[in-house]
Order: sequence, then C-alpha cells, then structure tokens
Amino acid sequence: MAKAAYESIRQTPTFTPSFTDLEIQNLAERYGTPAYVVDEETLRKKLSILEAAYRGFQGQAIAAYSMKANFNPSIIRVFMSEGILFDITSIGEIEFYLRLGGNPENIIYTSITEEEEEFRIILSKGVNRVVLSSHNGLVNLIRSSKSLGLTTSVLIRINPEVGVKAGVRASYKNGKFGVPINGSTVDSATSLFGKIIESENLELEGVHFHLGSQIEDPSCFVPALEKVENFILKMKRERPELRLKILDIGGGTPVDYGRAVPSPREIAFPIISKLNSMVKTLGADFTLIIESGRFLAAESSVLITRVVNSKVYEATKFIIVDAGYHLLLDAALLHQAYPQEIIPASTEEFGGEHMKINVVGRLCDTLDIFPSESTLSLGGVQDGKLLVFRNTGAYSLVFNMPFHCQIKPTVLMRRMNGEIDVIRRAEKIEELFDREGGNIALSFSDSAAEHTVDADIKERA
Ligand SMILES: Cc1ncc(COP(=O)(O)O)c(C=O)c1O
Repeated sequence: MAKAAYESIRQTPTFTPSFTDLEIQNLAERYGTPAYVVDEETLRKKLSILEAAYRGFQGQAIAAYSMKANFNPSIIRVFMSEGILFDITSIGEIEFYLRLGGNPENIIYTSITEEEEEFRIILSKGVNRVVLSSHNGLVNLIRSSKSLGLTTSVLIRINPEVGVKAGVRASYKNGKFGVPINGSTVDSATSLFGKIIESENLELEGVHFHLGSQIEDPSCFVPALEKVENFILKMKRERPELRLKILDIGGGTPVDYGRAVPSPREIAFPIISKLNSMVKTLGADFTLIIESGRFLAAESSVLITRVVNSKVYEATKFIIVDAGYHLLLDAALLHQAYPQEIIPASTEEFGGEHMKINVVGRLCDTLDIFPSESTLSLGGVQDGKLLVFRNTGAYSLVFNMPFHCQIKPTVLMRRMNGEIDVIRRAEKIEELFDREGGNIALSFSDSAAEHTVDADIKERA
C-alpha cells in the first residue's frame, strides 16, 4: 500500500466515551458497584465510523448490528433508530427485536441449528432473509417456506477456509460454520446453489461469510473475496442469468483492548478495492452488508467495580474487586485484557519495578484473574477505590451468569443529553433464588434443617 494512502487511513477518527472521574464516582455512589455504564453517543459514533469506512465502495453498503454482542433492549433501540439491519441468530433474539418494534424485513437470520420448526416460526414472524449453512438446513427451509406458501430469500454461508489472524477464528478447514465451496458431499456451496435454483420456495440473493471476531489483520478478506468471486463466476457459467444481489462479509472489526488494532478504514481499504473490481468482473452492482457486534458495542461501555480487598504475596500484589468473570467472561475465555483504570486517578506509580500486580475477581475459580496489557493506570490503587474496566460493551452482559449466586448488576445508559437512565435493573437475590427453583424447593417439604451438623461434631469430639 502506498505510504500516503496508508497514513490517511491511519488518521481514522476514533471515539471513546469521556466519563469523568467525578461522573464515575457519582454513579458508583448512587447506583452501587458493580455497574455497567453505556454511552449512547459512542454507540452512534461507532456506527457512523463503520459506515464511513466503506464509503469508497461503489455500490450500496449497509451495516448490520450483530445482536449476539449485546442484546440489551435499549442498545437495540439505539441501533433501530439508525435504520440499520440486524444480524440475528435465534428465535429469542427475534422476539426481543420484534417486541421492540423492529421490522422483520431488516433481519438477516443466520442459524446454527437450522431446524424446520425454527424456520417455520421465524418465517411466520415475517423474516424473509435466511443464511443457509447446510444441506439439511436447506431441506428444512424449503419445507417450512412451502408449508407457509412463501418464497424465502437466501444467502449461502461459505466457509472460505482462509487463514485469519483474530481473537476468534471462524474460517478454517473442517470448521463448524458454513459450507466449503466445493466438496464431496451435499454440504457444499456448489450443491446448495443447484438446489436453491431448482426450488420454487427459495430465491438466491447472494453469499455470506464470517471470518472471525477481533480480526487483527485485514489481509484475510481479499483471498476470501477471491474465492467468492470465482464461485460466482463458475455458477454464472452454468446459469448466465444469475445475479449477485447481496454480499455479506460478516463481522470482525476489532476493538483496541490495550493493544493497537487496525481501524475500520484499515480493515475496509483492501476489501473495497477488491469489491470494486468484483463489481466489474461479476457485472453486478451488488449490496454489501457489513455485520458488526464488537466494534459497534464494545467501546460504548465501562464496568465500574470497587477494590474490596488486597493482599501481597511475595512480589505480587492481588487487588480483589467486587466483579468477576461472571461479568466479563471473555477475560477468562479469550484472555481478553479489558483496559483497567483506578478512579480517582493518581499520578502515583504502582508498587515499584519489582512488584507484579494482579487484578482478580470475587469468584472462587483459578480463571478469575483479569488479564491486562498494562498496569500504568493502576497507580494509587487502594482498598475502597473504584476500578473501571473499559470497552466492556460487547460479549459481556450477554454472558452474565449466577455462578456463586451472583446477581446481575445494574446497567445504566448515559443519553445524548447527558442524563442517566437505568436500562437494566439490578437483579435481587430473591429473584435469583426464585428463578433457580428456591420457592419450588420450599414448596416440596417443610423439613427444614433442624438437625445441626455442629451438634454432631461436638458429640463425636
Ligand atoms: C455470523 C456472524 N456475524 C457477525 C458476528 C459479529 O462479529 P463481531 O462481533 O466480531 O463483529 C459474528 C460473531 O460471532 C458471527 O458469528
């Protein structure tokens, strides 16, 4: 890439929410910790940055919010108000989206299970764009479309089997997702193509692929697009009337978790030049869909926690906060280093060069240690201070779980006018007790534990 062009791409505007120390302290005081805070302005800005990155594409480019990253209803509504598409993967996500007034025509439905009954339900709710990933899925979609007298638009999910440098890889040989382009079985794009063309109840709109999440090097997109291009050209030789209407390049736009990653413009640059050449080779002015969950949601949010205890073990200081991986699961699963900061900030340096610091959670589990790229912003740490994790808006709330009977914390949203709304109430322990079957257990018998083990122990002594 020419140096000047590269420099101009690097100057992509970034946007991170500017919560002041005072604002964070006031929120912690008022709502308690732990608490997530989402900034509405950042959600909107991230979308405009993503959209701007693809302006060089000569066809239409539309963003789709991947609801799996964060299905909080208020966040969904922010993206709904922006008039974008939604990448949805389950009947539950569809329920959320439609209850909030979403238009089913804006849904791209990508299922993993692809069951006939599942398809019947989503089609009867008005969904009309389905991504197909298997032969059985195709059979089930034909059956459900037929039973409802519908013609359903489909995209074939291709596994381009290209190497990807990413936090989570989704394109590799013998992978779970999508189908290979060619293959010896009915589970191949070539086979699906023939069957879709023959079916009266399906209409082929285009092709989909998803290479991975937190993609660190955009060069994987060009070989994937070349494979799609060759596939379409081959299919066109059989069916000259074939027209590619939609090309969906999945998600993957990365987020800075303390380590530099390519900006949306850097990711988009090679993609756009390849796509513009494909418009010529394929003779079609197709629509590009860019799915995104992580980039759209992550940087909008912080998780405010409190340092509740600490201990020094030889040359390691453990900082214990009132959160855990039940609130930031990817810290344990992907070793994701959410940037950490002590509030109020201090100019004090942390602990001297020989002291290692480990921020850990409240769970009795070896994995409950928060990785970090840097401890520079942990100066002045002491019990009682706040510790904020940044960029926690994607793949965190959705994984909240009650390990150790932990309740789900409050989620707040700072609105465009600066006002704070509670967008998820903190769960109460009574609610968790009930949901876990506590009241059912109580209803079975009244033989509460009158027998004390303590008495047994004393008797034997
Ligand atoms: C099919 C598909 N599209 C989009 C995404 C969103 O990816 P990201 O959050 O990295 O943008 C995912 C994530 O798993 C996915 O599976």
